[in-house]
Amino acid sequence: MDSFSFRNGELFAENVPVRDIAARAGTPCFVYSRATLEDHYDRLVHAFRAIDPLVCYSIKSCPNLGVLRVLAERGAGMDAVSGGELFRAKSAGVPLSKCVYAGVGKTDAEIRYAIENGLGAAGGLGLFNCESEEEFENIARIARGLNATVRVALRINPDVDPKTHRYTSTGKKETKFGVDLERARRFFATYGRDPHARLEGLHLHIGSPIYTVDPYREAMTKTAALVDELARDGFEIHSIDLGGGFGADYESAQSPPLKDYADAIVPLAKPLYDRGVRFILEPGRTIVANAGILVLSVLYTKTSGDKRFVICDAGMNALLRPSHYGSFHFMWPVAPGVDMTPARRTLDPKLPDTMAQDVVGPLCETGDFLALDRVLPASIGRGDLLAVFTAGAYGMSMASRYNSSPLPAEVLVSGTSAEIVRRRETFDTLVEHELKPIALELPAHEAPKLEAAR
Ligand code: LLP
Repeated sequence: MDSFSFRNGELFAENVPVRDIAARAGTPCFVYSRATLEDHYDRLVHAFRAIDPLVCYSIKSCPNLGVLRVLAERGAGMDAVSGGELFRAKSAGVPLSKCVYAGVGKTDAEIRYAIENGLGAAGGLGLFNCESEEEFENIARIARGLNATVRVALRINPDVDPKTHRYTSTGKKETKFGVDLERARRFFATYGRDPHARLEGLHLHIGSPIYTVDPYREAMTKTAALVDELARDGFEIHSIDLGGGFGADYESAQSPPLKDYADAIVPLAKPLYDRGVRFILEPGRTIVANAGILVLSVLYTKTSGDKRFVICDAGMNALLRPSHYGSFHFMWPVAPGVDMTPARRTLDPKLPDTMAQDVVGPLCETGDFLALDRVLPASIGRGDLLAVFTAGAYGMSMASRYNSSPLPAEVLVSGTSAEIVRRRETFDTLVEHELKPIALELPAHEAPKLEAAR
């Protein structure tokens, strides 16, 4: 599952005591494990080896350059959804010719930036994952203006229910993503011969996280049928990007092993692979969720009515998932002692001397919580460190500065060493873009007269 484990009653990240990291880097901080990142990446590549996919790590899940570099060294490409993420890929040393670029709202400036930096260039593996007719026309127009030719995949919406939170279900017809299957053939008929935007792939991403394999089977079946229909229409598909969405272990052994996903997808994909279709995967969570923890300090505890509150130095500002999606994250003191070491990460680890407590942050909202009525050691008190597990994905990437909280530090552990891969923000960085107002040079105009009130 990951390289965070209790030894002699104390939590280690690989071979480094988490307590030592917190003492040096401070809290709140995210701690990532290189070994876990590498292990998850390798497992994924191994599980899908029969179709030899290009694994484009989904930057949005955890965009830290330190994390991107670990995966880039392994051979990963990147899945980006904004100019900022393309810039991160480049900054981590990943050529944009190895990146896929999705997103329903690409701006002209972002498209131009992507093309100028080689995204979608002929001979590369990268593609624009195009989400609508208007966007296609815009990509083609900008490519023509730059005298470039780019590779484009059409993001299709296969109308499959991934059975996950409605906010992160993306493959149903009524979501804003992609083009439905009926429109897909018309899309190719209209745009399939464009000389500057060469429509040669299909892309889909049906949701996240998906804990059963059936939605993938259904989506792959529909995609394969579309490939055949398009072939009959005279359009050859060279690449299929199946997106991401594989699960992670928020509780011990919650997610199916990657082999189960591969067993569902590969038999349907292999005939296409054998015909020369290149497969792409865009995993985020399954690689990085378990590779990261969030370490907090307990500032105070208090009792109100029947409730005991554990008040930490960060809450929804560092990890939004519990309050935004109602997500479960296992959490436990960093140094609970041997007798209080949990055997499994679960809602109630069934240890003595525990009680239900609300784990909350310092922000001025009742929604600022990390866990409600969570079974935790009754002894938790001021000065303790708390580890929130499976926080690597959509933790720091969704963190905010709400209540003017500087963003947390990020630390990458490799064996017995650790490095700060993002410095904690300071009060100065909080206000640096506001210190000097800049006058807007507005065009001169006469203020319109007020209309007489009737
Ligand atoms: N590809 C596309 C086009 C995506 O939109 C996403 C995630 C991924 C790949 C990666 O999905 P993953 O393998 O990480 O499941 N904030 C939510 C998750 C939102 C996912 C958005 N798209 C959460 O905290 O659960």
